[in-house]
Amino acid sequence: MAHIVATRPLIEGGLSGLRDTHTVTICDPPSGSARSVDELIALTEGADVLLSILADPVKAELFEARPQLRLVAQYAVGVDNIDLTAAETHDVAVTHTPGVLTDATADFTWALLLAAARHVPAADAYVREGRFERWEPALLLGMELSGKTLGIVGLGRIGAAVARRALGFGMTVVYHNRTRANPTRERQTTAQYVGREELLATSDVVSLHCPHNADSHHLIDADALAAMKPSALLVNTARGPVVDEAALVAALADGEIAGAGLDVFEDEPALHPGLREHDRVVLAPHLGSATTRARMRMAQMCTDSIQAVLEGHDSVPHRLV
Ligand code: DGY
Repeated sequence: MAHIVATRPLIEGGLSGLRDTHTVTICDPPSGSARSVDELIALTEGADVLLSILADPVKAELFEARPQLRLVAQYAVGVDNIDLTAAETHDVAVTHTPGVLTDATADFTWALLLAAARHVPAADAYVREGRFERWEPALLLGMELSGKTLGIVGLGRIGAAVARRALGFGMTVVYHNRTRANPTRERQTTAQYVGREELLATSDVVSLHCPHNADSHHLIDADALAAMKPSALLVNTARGPVVDEAALVAALADGEIAGAGLDVFEDEPALHPGLREHDRVVLAPHLGSATTRARMRMAQMCTDSIQAVLEGHDSVPHRLV
């Protein structure tokens, strides 16, 4: 019987497939900010498997302190919180949950995009606060998307799903990747490959879907924001540190861009002072994959990879390392 430690409760029923055959410890969520590496080390005493979430710092010290660990099953597709090199060095498998949250995240990207384009939070507040006295020709005018250009940074699974939805809105789609996407993906999305500078200069909406790593850290910095149209919107459902938040606050204040929809933050869950004040910014608490279906399927994927590792299968689904 193996010991599985989940760093916090998942969705109800999410790990039911593991409880009959293994000891599953579900830890209480930490109050306030994320756990430290030392807290993770304390939680994983005697654990064979760590079921981690994106806020858990799964670093080399953990692998050094817990040599019995066999698997880190990440309850997310992004793994920028995990030191994959250290995992490999210590012969610990790492799995994640690609694919099952693609549509949920693409839908939410569009929710933020539309909310920012049409000032939905401001409109909601306007009505709730009893300020709706009559129809006004110039009240809360927004951006009409038809005929506009959507610039996708990172045409992976989620970026492609966001691009496909753009076709229904009559938008032209351009994209930029480190390496050009395959012809099938380009055809299905009708997305045209362009350089980063061209994407920034020509897009009415820039939507970020790249992973966070050393190359993409602060990819959207002061220069990138200055290169965007003053009428453009920035949407980020990828990872916070892809955007230099201080530069974004300054760009919004200076009118270098028109607004933003943000589901992720540079120092999550902390909010950069200045973002809260901007009524042209729509904010969400990292909800991209937050549908019951996606979160259940993510739990099932974690269960499948945990069982494969514990049963000694040669092939472990969704294994990165
Ligand atoms: C992910 O999976 O990486 C999302 O950010 C959370 O579901």
